[in-house]
Amino acid sequence: MFIVKKKIGGKEYYYLRESRREKGKVKAVTVAYLGKTKKDAEKRMKNFVKKKEEGLKKPENKKEVMVEESVRTEIGIDELARYCKRKGFVYPSGEVYGGLAGFWDFGHLGVELLRNIKDGWWNFHVRDREDMEGMDGSIITNPKVWEASGHVESFVDYIVVNKKNKEKFKVDAHELGKYEKDDKYIVEGKFNPMFTTKVGPVNGNESYLRPETAQSIFVNFKNVFDNSRAKLPFGIAQVGKAFRNEIAPREFLFRSREFEQMEIEYFIKSGMKCDLIDEVKGIKIKMLTGDMQSGNKEEEEMEIYSAWKKGLIGDWQAYWLAQEFSWFILLGAKSENFRARQHTSEERSHYAIDTWDLEYKFPMGWRELQGFANRGSFDLTQHQKASGKKFEVFVEGEGRIIPEVACEPSLGVGRAFLVFMLDAYEYNKERDNVVLHLNPKLAPYKAAILPLMSKGEVADISHEIFRELKEEWNVLFDKSGSIGRRYSRNDEVGTPYCIAVDQETIDKKTITIRDRDSTKQIRVKTKELMSVLRDLINDKVSFINAGKVVSTRVK
Ligand code: GAP
Repeated sequence: MFIVKKKIGGKEYYYLRESRREKGKVKAVTVAYLGKTKKDAEKRMKNFVKKKEEGLKKPENKKEVMVEESVRTEIGIDELARYCKRKGFVYPSGEVYGGLAGFWDFGHLGVELLRNIKDGWWNFHVRDREDMEGMDGSIITNPKVWEASGHVESFVDYIVVNKKNKEKFKVDAHELGKYEKDDKYIVEGKFNPMFTTKVGPVNGNESYLRPETAQSIFVNFKNVFDNSRAKLPFGIAQVGKAFRNEIAPREFLFRSREFEQMEIEYFIKSGMKCDLIDEVKGIKIKMLTGDMQSGNKEEEEMEIYSAWKKGLIGDWQAYWLAQEFSWFILLGAKSENFRARQHTSEERSHYAIDTWDLEYKFPMGWRELQGFANRGSFDLTQHQKASGKKFEVFVEGEGRIIPEVACEPSLGVGRAFLVFMLDAYEYNKERDNVVLHLNPKLAPYKAAILPLMSKGEVADISHEIFRELKEEWNVLFDKSGSIGRRYSRNDEVGTPYCIAVDQETIDKKTITIRDRDSTKQIRVKTKELMSVLRDLINDKVSFINAGKVVSTRVK
């Protein structure tokens, strides 16, 4: 085993890697995240190796090892939707009236998870970087924006009907020929998926609900550039709602009519090289290029850096692909469920020069999770022409130029939600309940306070702890049912830590913390609870090193 350091967004992260022999080849795989400093990494590696050796030596430890290494349980997308409804994450919108296809409402747990995803994304991409500005545009804007961007003219889907089962679905222009030739289908026509609305109560002007957040970034480009006194290269990020009147909204949050996007437009001077490319060294992902698809080849695991060196992917696309993939992995998604696929020339959007997708193995198969288009100067040039306003910037030695978008990482929040839920979901046979292994940073409740007595001093101190923790996190006060029932209830919604308050809390001023993933328990001083939890949530200490390990009957 060996430690590797990766630089992501200017920050250092340490990983434990191991060489494994698979199908006759030796491969290096990441086995654990070790933290942000070399010292932490060395300490954690020692613990990891020690734990592994103990597990190998003593067969009676197998049970614990199995729980820690448990993998995702396959779950269908509809089953996940039912689970999310039952547990209070997501409800079909307007369900009492039969719902409305493509629209969803989020319950308390769902909205907390959504917020944590969006905050995590914003911190990683905006606050932790020096080359990123943020903005938040309106949902409805001047309709001329959508004329200039090409959406009114070229943003079209084709409706195809399966003659046998009458099922309607959308296809892109490049797939049309296939269905026109096949007499099992009828191409019913084309339509523009932008929702229209009237602005103004009487004889209002027609406008659109934005189908992507990107255009508010383009039309505000000069405002943001001038206000921030930015220098190229730099990016503008936005998180916000988008709407598309999808022909066949389906597969839970995967394809909805109202959804949120987290988008970046990364601007460069034409031909500018990516000086951050070294940060992608060592990051591997399954890749499928356009040529591999034409040759009917399967995806292959490659180092993104080597793929760039071989000219399979552009430098900026490679950099952003690695950033986004790392973001998912740092928050607990499973690397084996991701691949990067290049768009074939027929499927590229009207504005794109080259596009890659980060795909994820959803229960329905490999599907687009996030797009990485190279939009060139298409959008700024269009808006300059249509508005008559200057979108140029001054570059030392070059004069006034229109910047290019080297890469547009564009991700749906709902799709990210599905990824984290799917990779976290485990039906644990031993415990006979679902365990949602969400990363503590994403978990809706960071902790649950479980008083072991409902009255007296134990109840009072439990309330005090609850109030204190609430100042920093969303936590749950869970007083009803047996302790075992309370543990499983919290496992099912991904609460990483359960805090049991008992007589010893009064007598010895200590408290028990139970770890969701391993069911292990530690005892810590009550006055240190807050800082221990903070270290655990921020992955600064491993659970068994955060306090005194204690054994208990109820796991
Ligand atoms: N600005 C570029 C753009 O919007 P896109 O590929 O059409 O590109 C980007 O969309 C991302 O938005 C997708 O990769 C997906 O994650 C999300 N997305 C698009 N349509 C969606 C829908 N109907 N429901 C949920 N997410 C969607």
